[in-house]
Amino acid sequence: MSELKHVPVMLRETLKGLCVKSGGLYFDGTLGGGGHSYEILKESAPDGRLIATDLDSYAIERASERLKEFEGRFTLVKSNFKDFGEIKDRLAPDGFDGILLDLGVSSFQLDDRSRGFSYLADDELLDMRMSRDNPLTAVTVLNEYPEKELKRIFAEYGEEKFADRIAKKVAEERKKTKIERVGQLNAIIDESIPRKFKKDGHPSRRVFQALRIEVNGELDGLFETVTQMARGLKKGGRIAVITFHSLEDRIVKRAFKELETDCICDKSLPVCVCGRKKEIEIITAHPITAGEEERQTNSRAKSAKLRIAEKV
Ligand SMILES: C[S@@+](CC[C@H](N)C(=O)[O-])C[C@H]1O[C@@H](n2cnc3c(N)ncnc32)[C@H](O)[C@@H]1O
Repeated sequence: MSELKHVPVMLRETLKGLCVKSGGLYFDGTLGGGGHSYEILKESAPDGRLIATDLDSYAIERASERLKEFEGRFTLVKSNFKDFGEIKDRLAPDGFDGILLDLGVSSFQLDDRSRGFSYLADDELLDMRMSRDNPLTAVTVLNEYPEKELKRIFAEYGEEKFADRIAKKVAEERKKTKIERVGQLNAIIDESIPRKFKKDGHPSRRVFQALRIEVNGELDGLFETVTQMARGLKKGGRIAVITFHSLEDRIVKRAFKELETDCICDKSLPVCVCGRKKEIEIITAHPITAGEEERQTNSRAKSAKLRIAEKV
């Protein structure tokens, strides 16, 4: 098995936030390298159990090796965490004590250059799929989406200031030759962004993020899934979500806020007619961010935000 590694972000904070205990039943929707799952199984010893999903069969393969010492206490499912409802009904009908989502890509997905997630690998194919079963790749998005749609994706998912210029250039270039390789896209982005705006990190960073989000449908249904997961907790159970960009974080924040909302009746009414009751207590009024030491040693931690809520 390859040496590519993923260092889990805010591991201690997450474990503490989830209040992991012996005998508990946990769900990790984003297994990745199994870093968080490993600690959940360790802290819930001797009889805690874990169900975990990942879209990526390589992640499932690696993590089953890594978690071997806990054999019999975990079930790994190659699945989208958005299938949570079905998985819960089948494997955990009484609900979970803790649920974790650590969103986005893992370091080993980024570092495996052949997967096309990284703008540092000019010769690689622009694939960007977390799951090989996904029929959509970044090549398809770049060559087949209308220019207007590309502009929206770059602006919305990448918060790219020059989305219109980049989308226009993509539309021009693909008339001449199919855009398939990382280097071709890097050159288009480089030509589209004025030099004085290239100081803030690699110029391709935002467009690559945007394409990855589109290819993997990362924001689709996230609000509904987080809501469903919070409802799938036992009373007193905790949900922890780690996000890496503001779009995801806003969705999680909004989902938590809605679930925490109590009766919305006009105060002048003598009794409640809306019937609404709050379903969770938000534990983190403001998201937890990584400490200075972790930010220095793990670049992924820099943009990470952790939000936690408890089922009431
Ligand atoms: C940031 S990594 C998780 C790392 C993990 N917490 C660890 O400590 O090793 C995110 C993982 O979630 C997976 N993933 C992303 N979106 C998913 C989805 N909708 N369903 C299932 N897995 C998903 C990715 O394939 C990736 O392996």
